[in-house]
Amino acid sequence: MKILGTGSAIPKLEVTNDDLAKFLDTNDEWISSRTGIKSRHILSEGETLTDLAAEATRQALADAKVDAKDLDYIICHNIMNDRCIPGMSCIIQGIIGATCPCVDTNAACTGFIYALDHADALMKAGKANKILIICAEQMSMMIDWERRESCVLFGDGAGAVVVSNEGEDCAVKVTACYTPALNCNVKQGDTPFRKDTTTYDKLEMAGREVFKLATHNSCNDIQTVLDASHTTASDVKYFILHQANLRIVEAIRGFLEQPEEKFPHNIEHRGNTSSASVLLLLDDLNKANKIQRGDKLVFSAFGAGFTSGACLMTW
Ligand code: COA
Repeated sequence: MKILGTGSAIPKLEVTNDDLAKFLDTNDEWISSRTGIKSRHILSEGETLTDLAAEATRQALADAKVDAKDLDYIICHNIMNDRCIPGMSCIIQGIIGATCPCVDTNAACTGFIYALDHADALMKAGKANKILIICAEQMSMMIDWERRESCVLFGDGAGAVVVSNEGEDCAVKVTACYTPALNCNVKQGDTPFRKDTTTYDKLEMAGREVFKLATHNSCNDIQTVLDASHTTASDVKYFILHQANLRIVEAIRGFLEQPEEKFPHNIEHRGNTSSASVLLLLDDLNKANKIQRGDKLVFSAFGAGFTSGACLMTW
């Protein structure tokens, strides 16, 4: 599997730590020293998640030089969509004029790695040659803006890639183990047969537990894909990691004993954009011409479930 092109889009509104301190008991020093985050982009009036997903997709198709009609599948990952149905993959299909099958998936912040795993399987089964993967996330809808321990961490954004079955084999590992350290319940509607018993809860997070699980799982996942492809960490050009916390990136870097320049980051001005975060960073690197054909890249992410995964791929 090979990535042919990338794209990304973030909302216009940039919200700094000082902006948050106007309505929350927090400050720039606490947020930036504990997480690395200085600002994040949040969807506001006149912009939708679909707009971001469509823009990221247009960029990815143009970069890949692939016509929408030549796509064999669209996989869109999102935790929350603008609508329950249709899936965002179908909405984007309509916008770009594609005709292929479409599906939405949800593996929380690990979504991009799961989508790569699904794409790899579809290609190996001979069911698709060119697949569009979109990760579009509106975390600002899910978080409790009164809970300072979690709301300062997240941002909104969308990323997209076109992958094809050309290129070298990739190694992918995905995991899931039910651990409600990150939880979000959505109110269900009444039916004539069942009264609603579910309370609406915004995102709840056991920060320290998530921190430990994230670091432990990511190190394991990355080592597994390195071993599976008979590659060492030194052979890898970039480790493109989920942008959840700069201290988690640093802990993984310490485990792999690799230099800082191999661990690019953009969390400073993006925050945690869930499954879109790896794609936003990949697109930044691609647009800055920092990746050359033949470079080995490792993607790794973790999230609610608890899910995690890594993928080693040759650019
Ligand atoms: N501003 C100021 N103070 C804050 C705060 C904020 N935004 N959020 C929490 N605090 C306070 C706490 O109330 C606590 O105060 P206390 O000591 O008086 O009780 C203190 O800061 C320390 O809180 P703690 O939770 O121990 O901090 P931490 O060093 O563990 O950092 C996280 C908290 C959330 C930044 C960190 O645990 C983390 O990043 N975890 C992983 C989260 C993650 O990646 N989630 C997404 C997964 S996809």
